[in-house]
Amino acid sequence: MKVTKTSRSKLDSTDFSNLPFGTVFSDHMLVCNYKDGKWNEAKILPYGPIPMPPGAQVLHYGQSVFEGMKAFKNNSNEILLFRKEENFKRLNQSAERLSIPVIEKSIFMNGLDNLLKIDSEWCKADQGYSLYIRPFIFASSECVKASASEEYTFIIITSPTINYYAGEMNVVIEENYTRAPQGGVGYAKAAGNYAASFYPTKQANSKGFQQLIWTDAKEHKYIEESGTMNVWFRIGNILITPALSDSILGGITRDSIVTLAKDNGIKVEQRRILITEVIEAFNKGTLKKVFGTGTAVTVNPINTITFRDQRMVIEQQADSFALKLKEQLQGIQKGSIFDPYNWTSKVTV
Ligand SMILES: Cc1ncc(COP(=O)(O)O)c(C=O)c1O
Repeated sequence: MKVTKTSRSKLDSTDFSNLPFGTVFSDHMLVCNYKDGKWNEAKILPYGPIPMPPGAQVLHYGQSVFEGMKAFKNNSNEILLFRKEENFKRLNQSAERLSIPVIEKSIFMNGLDNLLKIDSEWCKADQGYSLYIRPFIFASSECVKASASEEYTFIIITSPTINYYAGEMNVVIEENYTRAPQGGVGYAKAAGNYAASFYPTKQANSKGFQQLIWTDAKEHKYIEESGTMNVWFRIGNILITPALSDSILGGITRDSIVTLAKDNGIKVEQRRILITEVIEAFNKGTLKKVFGTGTAVTVNPINTITFRDQRMVIEQQADSFALKLKEQLQGIQKGSIFDPYNWTSKVTV
């Protein structure tokens, strides 16, 4: 792999005590181009602007997919990647749906390892730090015909992050706009899914809600996701999360929490959840917790849910399943507790 190192590292000038999520980038990036029916050799370059003609297809038709994953440094200064196989699989699942050629495993895995080795100093070992990793692929042919591109670019960039308190999470159940219809691309991390969610989210923000709860496109009766997180309800002593479908993104955090919960003896149900079921549970006093899961936040409690005129305030539990599972997940990610699942893999620096 060809590596061109930067002559001007930003490490010393970066304020690691102030890292607004997704705004600070490490020194290098991995770039790989697809042309004439094949992925070429990947290279590592200094992080920086990329050549992009105005006719690049992605700018017109949004043929683009991405991933979000994290690396952590343990106390022995080793970098631990969390469930990289799952992110690789999901990237290719998304690529397939968007008619983008799949990435070879060796390009993804070797590229990731080499990039993390070069930028290992950007992943801090102190508590709360991680390195957010953003692999993405986009249509790069210079052509404005509405068709799948002939050329693509695969890039991995990384961004140091620090755990932050996300603040109060007040969400509203959305009954008009839809994140993902049946038969659509909701199960893929397609750029357009996010573009389409910004307007409804802004409308909710203007009414004082941090996020929306998306409901099914057909009837707006079933709960799907919360913003860009999978959503969970604790009703009595059972954890319930919507079953995966083509309109729900199969979160890797969601999958990890399913496993951890079961191994903690907590009953988990993955099935359709009616809005009315949540309201009934709240009215009966059995709705004990609502939370979202995702790579950026791991587990994020939801404080209130509003449905039409009803605002449901979820009292925080003393014996919180969500908190316990969050601590276990974060411990495994950071290497501070034993990982019986082989979810973490070391990058040897
Ligand atoms: C729409 C959506 N749902 C759920 C998730 C959570 O997925 P993961 O746990 O793999 O980060 C994400 C974030 O990646 C997302 O964008």
